[in-house]
Amino acid sequence: MIFKMENVNLVYDIGKEMQTYALKDINLSIDGNRLIGIMGPSGGGKSSLLYALAGFKIPTSGEVYYEEKDYSKISTAKSADIRKKEFGFIFQRHFLIDYMTVLENVLVPINNDSSEAKNKAISILKELGLEHLINKKPYQLSGGQRQRVAIARALITDPKVIFADEPTAALDHKSAIEVMNFLENYKKDKLIIVVTHDSSILKDADYIINMMDGAIESIDNKKGGIL
Ligand SMILES: Nc1ncnc2c1ncn2[C@@H]1O[C@H](COP(=O)(O)OP(=O)(O)OP(=O)(O)O)[C@@H](O)[C@H]1O
Ligand SMILES: [Mg+2]
Repeated sequence: MIFKMENVNLVYDIGKEMQTYALKDINLSIDGNRLIGIMGPSGGGKSSLLYALAGFKIPTSGEVYYEEKDYSKISTAKSADIRKKEFGFIFQRHFLIDYMTVLENVLVPINNDSSEAKNKAISILKELGLEHLINKKPYQLSGGQRQRVAIARALITDPKVIFADEPTAALDHKSAIEVMNFLENYKKDKLIIVVTHDSSILKDADYIINMMDGAIESIDNKKGGIL
């Protein structure tokens, strides 16, 4: 199992009159390599689930394991090290650096501009259909192209898991589908977890976890097999 959550609650405003359960009694096991969607209304707990799996948010009660390691039992340095080496992140905003070229942006996570590193970045950019844009700056690209650069940047460390929080929310439908199609290619050898409001971009998801008021309301199993 890559991830396991046992009886996880994430509660805000403890001690106050009204508490919010960002996560409520979550039990979940996730194995790779597959594409998993997390859906639900605003405030339903989608981002909380993603960031709890990534070890950014430590739950109020319950355990979250990544490859048998309990985040609450390892140091914050170790947990940060796992994120740096084994996880890639893509957000709604691309967070590319405007004064750097596309190629330089992709190299940021590895802080290495050797020709070997550059060749690796170029080959990833090629897979994402961006080889003609490597020397452009982010502001010279379309929104969809910028998100594809953000995917390349997430892939440069060869992560085992890609976490994406509303990666296509700022894009028009056509660019959103295109970005998702590129992202899906990587599920052959990675676990990809995508939060979205838009079910149409999850046509090729293996599972969709539906969140409501912090709880898992249902899990759609679209391709058979176990989660
Ligand atoms: N730091 C915080 N302090 C207090 N409440 C919080 C905090 N972070 C999240 N919450 C609450 O937890 C609940 C779940 O939030 P979360 O961000 O996980 O929802 P979401 O499904 O990602 O929503 P959206 O689609 O709007 O991004 C919400 O009610 C939110 O207000
Ligand atoms: Mg969110």
